[in-house]
Amino acid sequence: MPNKTLGIIGGTGWLGRAIADAVLESGFITADRLLISNRSGTGTFGSQVRVLADNQALVDLSEVVMLSIRPEQFRELQIDATGKQVISLMAGITADTIRTVTGAQNVVRAMPNAMVEIRQSYTPWFSAGDLGEADRQWLQRLFECVGSADEVPDEDCIDYLSALSGTGPAFPAMLYKALVSQAVAAGVPDTIAHRAAHGVVVGGGQLLASRDPLHMIDALMAYRGVTAAALQSMDDQHIDAIVGRALQAGAEVARRGM
Ligand SMILES: NC(=O)c1ccc[n+]([C@@H]2O[C@H](COP(=O)([O-])OP(=O)(O)OC[C@H]3O[C@@H](n4cnc5c(N)ncnc54)[C@H](OP(=O)(O)O)[C@@H]3O)[C@@H](O)[C@H]2O)c1
Repeated sequence: MPNKTLGIIGGTGWLGRAIADAVLESGFITADRLLISNRSGTGTFGSQVRVLADNQALVDLSEVVMLSIRPEQFRELQIDATGKQVISLMAGITADTIRTVTGAQNVVRAMPNAMVEIRQSYTPWFSAGDLGEADRQWLQRLFECVGSADEVPDEDCIDYLSALSGTGPAFPAMLYKALVSQAVAAGVPDTIAHRAAHGVVVGGGQLLASRDPLHMIDALMAYRGVTAAALQSMDDQHIDAIVGRALQAGAEVARRGM
């Protein structure tokens, strides 16, 4: 796999920093081939990683430029990335806009999530330009430094998945909140409710790492016990539709842009 020079604009931010650390730790990019920029030009990386305040200098020195700034910060970004591969992690900014603003022909959009921190992000990515097989494999390996990844067939998948996998721990956290509030309302002491819900969300997630969740539901329904009654109630109240509306609401924001 070629050791390309990667420049991360916003590489001292929360997401950019996690990706920078992961590509270095995995050995996918060597420190002499990693550049970081932010507005101050300061950041604590190994001595060989260059940290710049000049985004254009980063672009000029890089083969691949990753944009890890916030969507609203993109408005003030002025770079000429003609001839470079640009990867955007920004939600809600289309590949067309990125191409127009940066001059890059080759734009990839990717949507990691908060689990980059523990190298368990799921990262869908989309290439708006033609990619050769070697470039495709390089990008896949890049995103696999922070977890698992898939190339998706169209750009709308990125907007939709921004509301699904891009939300990271948000859906389990929301379930946690509902479990706690309902248990407390039913008379369970507050501390116990939190500990019980934590066991469900965190312990359940870890168990499902090695089980098929759909088979798990089938098996629990077949048992016809307490769990089956609870799951059937959620089904009767159309939990799929509630989740579907939540995903559409998020996806609409991603499609509309921020
Ligand atoms: N958070 C998530 O779960 C998540 C998931 C998927 C995608 N994303 C996307 O990831 C992007 C980054 O999010 P984040 O949470 O990492 O944001 P963040 O922590 O605020 O990081 C933004 C970074 O950009 C730098 N920056 C801002 N303006 C700049 C400029 N003009 N030139 C150079 N550097 C600049 C900031 O440094 P200075 O202030 O020092 O300049 C900082 O290092 C966003 O577009 C977001 O949509 C986030």
